[in-house]
Amino acid sequence: MSQRFRGKIVVITGASSGIGRSAAHAFARQGATLVLAARSHDSLEAAAAECRALGAEAVAIPTDVADEHQVADLVATVTSRFGRIDVFVGNAALFVYGLFEQTPTAAFKRVVDTNLYGHLNAITHLLPHWRQRGSGTYVLVGSIQSLLSAPYQSAYVTSKHAALGLIDVLGDEFAHTGIRFTTLLPSTIDTPIYQNGANYTGKNSHPLPPTVSVDRAGRAVVRAAAHPKRYRYVGRVQASLVPLQYVFPGLFHKITKPMVELFALRGTGAPTDGNLWTPADAGNATDGGWVAKRRRVTRPLLVLGAVAAVATVALGRARR
Ligand SMILES: NC(=O)c1ccc[n+]([C@@H]2O[C@H](COP(=O)([O-])OP(=O)(O)OC[C@H]3O[C@@H](n4cnc5c(N)ncnc54)[C@H](OP(=O)(O)O)[C@@H]3O)[C@@H](O)[C@H]2O)c1
Repeated sequence: MSQRFRGKIVVITGASSGIGRSAAHAFARQGATLVLAARSHDSLEAAAAECRALGAEAVAIPTDVADEHQVADLVATVTSRFGRIDVFVGNAALFVYGLFEQTPTAAFKRVVDTNLYGHLNAITHLLPHWRQRGSGTYVLVGSIQSLLSAPYQSAYVTSKHAALGLIDVLGDEFAHTGIRFTTLLPSTIDTPIYQNGANYTGKNSHPLPPTVSVDRAGRAVVRAAAHPKRYRYVGRVQASLVPLQYVFPGLFHKITKPMVELFALRGTGAPTDGNLWTPADAGNATDGGWVAKRRRVTRPLLVLGAVAAVATVALGRARR
C-alpha cells in the first residue's frame, strides 16, 4: 500500500463524522499523522482511535471552527507539538433545510459562521506559518451547492458559494507559490448530515438521489491533497446540472423546487435545530446508512425482477 503521506501532518475539521471521518481513515492508510477537530468529544475520540487502529498517529482536539480563538489555539497547538501543518482539510459544516422565511436568522448566521468564517479563521492563522515554510495545502470541502442553487437551503447554499469564492481568490493570489488551495465539490454523499442537520420544513429530510458512498468522498479528499487542482467533483449526475444551470437557466430553476420537494422532503417531522448549537455526538458516524437502506430496497427488487424474467423466458419455452 502507498504511504504517500508518511511523515506529513494533516489536520481535518469535522472529523467526528461523515466525509471528514472517512478522509481521516484514508489519510491514516497513507501513513499521515492526523489531528482531528470537531466540537464533539466522544465521536472525535472514536475517530482518532479508528485511525490509530489503522497504524497512524492520531490525536483529537475538540474545536468549534466558528470561534476564532479556538481555531487559533488549534493551529498553535499543532505547530508547537508537531512542528508544522502540511495539509489542512476545511471540512466542518452545518446543514439546514428550510425555506428562507422558515429559517430563523440566528440559524442562518450560525451556518455562515461555521461554513464560511470557519475557513477564514483557519486560513488567517495558517498563512503566517505557511508563508514562513513556503508551503502548505488547504483543501476546502465545498459542495455541488457551491455552484448550484437549491431551494430550501438558502443558508447552506449562501455559505458554500461564499467559501468557494474565498478559496478561488486565494488560489489566484497564491498561484506560483508553494501554498495551494484546492476545492472538492461533492454531490450527495451518504453521511449523517441529513439526520443531524437542522430542519424547519415540517417534513422529514432525505438525501437528494443519487447518493454516493462516503468512502469515495473520503478518498477524493486525499487525492485532492496529493494533487491539488482547482476543482474536483465527487459524483457525476448532480455535477452534470452545473452546465444545465448556466445554459438552460429557465429549465434548471423550474425543476429544482419540485425536485427537492419530491425526493428530499417527505413525510412529516417536527422542526428541529439539529446539531446547530450542540453537536450530535451520539448521531455522528462515518456513513449515514443511506446507501445500505437503498440496497435493502433495490436488491430484493432486482432479485424479484431477475426471477420474473427467468420465469417468463422458461414459461415461453415450455409453451413452444
Ligand atoms: N453529505 C453530503 O451530501 C454532502 C454533499 C456535499 C458536500 N458536503 C460537505 O461535506 C462536509 C462534511 O459533511 P458531512 O456530510 O460529512 O456531514 P456530517 O456527517 O454532519 O459531518 C459534519 C462534521 O462537521 C462538524 N462540525 C459541524 N459544525 C462544526 C463546528 N462549528 N466546528 C467544528 N466542527 C463542526 C461535525 O462534528 P461536531 O458536530 O462534532 O462538531 C461533523 O464532524 C461538509 O462541508 C458538507 O457541506 C456533504
